Amino acid sequence: MNTVSHSRAVVIGVGHYLPERVVENAEFEASLDTSDEWIRSRSGIERRHFAAEGETTSDLATKAAQAALADAGLDATALDAIVLATSTADMTFPSAATMVQANLGMTKGFAFDVQAVCAGFIYALANAQALILSGQARRVMVIGAETFSRIMDWTDRGTCVLFGDGAGALILEAQPGTGSNDDRGILSTDLNSDGRHRDILYVDGGVATQNTGFLRMQGKEVFRHAVEKLAATAETALSKIGMSADEIDWVVPHQANIRIISGTARKLGLPMERVVVTVQDHGNTSAASIPLALSVGKARGQIRQGDMIVTEAIGGGLAWGAVVLRW
Ligand code: UT7
Repeated sequence: MNTVSHSRAVVIGVGHYLPERVVENAEFEASLDTSDEWIRSRSGIERRHFAAEGETTSDLATKAAQAALADAGLDATALDAIVLATSTADMTFPSAATMVQANLGMTKGFAFDVQAVCAGFIYALANAQALILSGQARRVMVIGAETFSRIMDWTDRGTCVLFGDGAGALILEAQPGTGSNDDRGILSTDLNSDGRHRDILYVDGGVATQNTGFLRMQGKEVFRHAVEKLAATAETALSKIGMSADEIDWVVPHQANIRIISGTARKLGLPMERVVVTVQDHGNTSAASIPLALSVGKARGQIRQGDMIVTEAIGGGLAWGAVVLRW
């Protein structure tokens, strides 16, 4: 349970960064047996951003973090920690988080990566909240950043048209609360994984093979798990604090496929008017998709202070989870 104290981890800043290069679905028609129509109708994706040559995950993460700092009106020296969710860190080690720490000019505190693939940002939020509630940090930068274009097999039409690059960041700050669901901040979390399903979504390289490898996915299988597990984890996170889905202002889902997003909303009994959707413009950016959607949702005027939000994600592992927060 997470309401052990009346301290809350409250969002005080948000920002994002998308690489300049935008690739429309039609561009894939030249090299693959695919079509804009297929990609749009099966996934909801219309375009995605790809990082420039030499542009790394920590570069994208640094820009998103700088945008979040500007939004909060803070300097990086005000941060105690950076928690960065990614599966595409620049190098095997050190963490991309320590690179962002250096880029921001932050010489104190600590930084580390969290690797839970598309569920990474949910895991990072839960970890950052735990650091705050246990008194180990007062202000934590939580980032989701990915360059999945680096692990695409460009001959596999079943995967390479689905993913994109980007980064989003939130700053969480310890603030006093009353302990009720009226408090701003993270109110509930629910984390799950089941390694028996590790072979339906994975990268076929790494330290063991001494190469980076490419993403491999049994799309239909992942899809089947996604709708069922996402609705269940959202409902579990809500039930931990005695809430139900009809009390939610916004669902901010992982942006993998519009059919998964709408199927999950339907299971939760929520209309699409209460779902933040960015998949058409970003594709699946893995751990970056939720903070990107939160940042874009705020910029669009959808998400406002005081709104009740449930955010959920599933990805390789399988790993999945949900966070309930009041913005
Ligand atoms: O973020 C982490 C989690 N990842 C996900 O959530 C992704 C989950 N899965 C999905 O989103 C969907 O399963 C996909 C979008 C990947 C695929 O959609 P689908 O409706 O499940 O299609 P499918 O894999 O069953 O493929 C249907 C057909 C196949 O042809 P046959 O065997 O019926 O002749 C595929 O070969 O579509 C074909 N196909 C394509 N056709 C044109 C697969 N990819 C493409 C493509 N263009 N890019």
